[in-house]
Amino acid sequence: MEKEFEKLNEALTFIRSFYKDKPKVGIILGTGLGALVNEVDIELTISYQDIPHFPLSTVESHAGKLIFGKLSGQNVIVMQGRFHYYEGYTMKQIIFPVRVMKMLGIEYLFVSNASGALNPNYGLSELMILEDHINLLPSNPLIGKNIPALGVRFPDMFEPYCNKLIQLADKIIQQNEKLTIKTKFHKGVYVSVSGPNLETRAEYRYLRTIEADAVGMSTVPEVIAAVHMNLPVFAVSVLTDLCQPENVKPITLEEVLQAAAIAEPKMALLFKEMIKKLD
Ligand code: HPA
Repeated sequence: MEKEFEKLNEALTFIRSFYKDKPKVGIILGTGLGALVNEVDIELTISYQDIPHFPLSTVESHAGKLIFGKLSGQNVIVMQGRFHYYEGYTMKQIIFPVRVMKMLGIEYLFVSNASGALNPNYGLSELMILEDHINLLPSNPLIGKNIPALGVRFPDMFEPYCNKLIQLADKIIQQNEKLTIKTKFHKGVYVSVSGPNLETRAEYRYLRTIEADAVGMSTVPEVIAAVHMNLPVFAVSVLTDLCQPENVKPITLEEVLQAAAIAEPKMALLFKEMIKKLD
């Protein structure tokens, strides 16, 4: 067996010895967006450090646990803490948990992230539903020997973000007053960069010319891995700082977390209402 697939199977076997249910949804929560976990009826928690071959979380604002439980009546697995390229992980490590969750049986992947707003019509603490992305990370998680049991060698990127899920989000946003009042939802293109530094003004101008609406340092590797496995994805960016060249100012992690905290309840509500409707 391919070595990477062997590792995945070892992680799977370990988790399966504790968790016997069939999970429906895998959820990856971004920087400052972990509060949704408080609404999960938790049945089991496993620290990343205990799972064979799982990478360890290094960033303080990320916890590093796999949480199993019920959300909106469905079995979910929540990744509290994700892995970023800037932390020094390989692309294979970054996508390892997504692959394990798919092998455990998830049928949908929900992702959130904190990102910078490039589109001049976007404001702080607003939300952007991802319709598409541009991968500007210096690598791709599918480079190397393909694992045919997971997917094809050349997966197409015709619909990286599931249209049906985007339509479901639209419907829920229209019908739920708590989401329509005082919340701006956008739809746009996310561009992933390596970080860890934020971008220069010239880079923001460049990212705008390639028609990206929001910029961040995550999400794209996990989405590529999901698409490879035919796993439908829904992803939301919480806009934590303005990257429009005329509005740029120095920002701190605290400000990012603060802006994320304002938008988090709306993102959480949207995820919960959508998950309730999945069949
Ligand atoms: N750039 C890149 N990543 C980010 C940003 C940003 O401005 N904000 C939050 N994540």
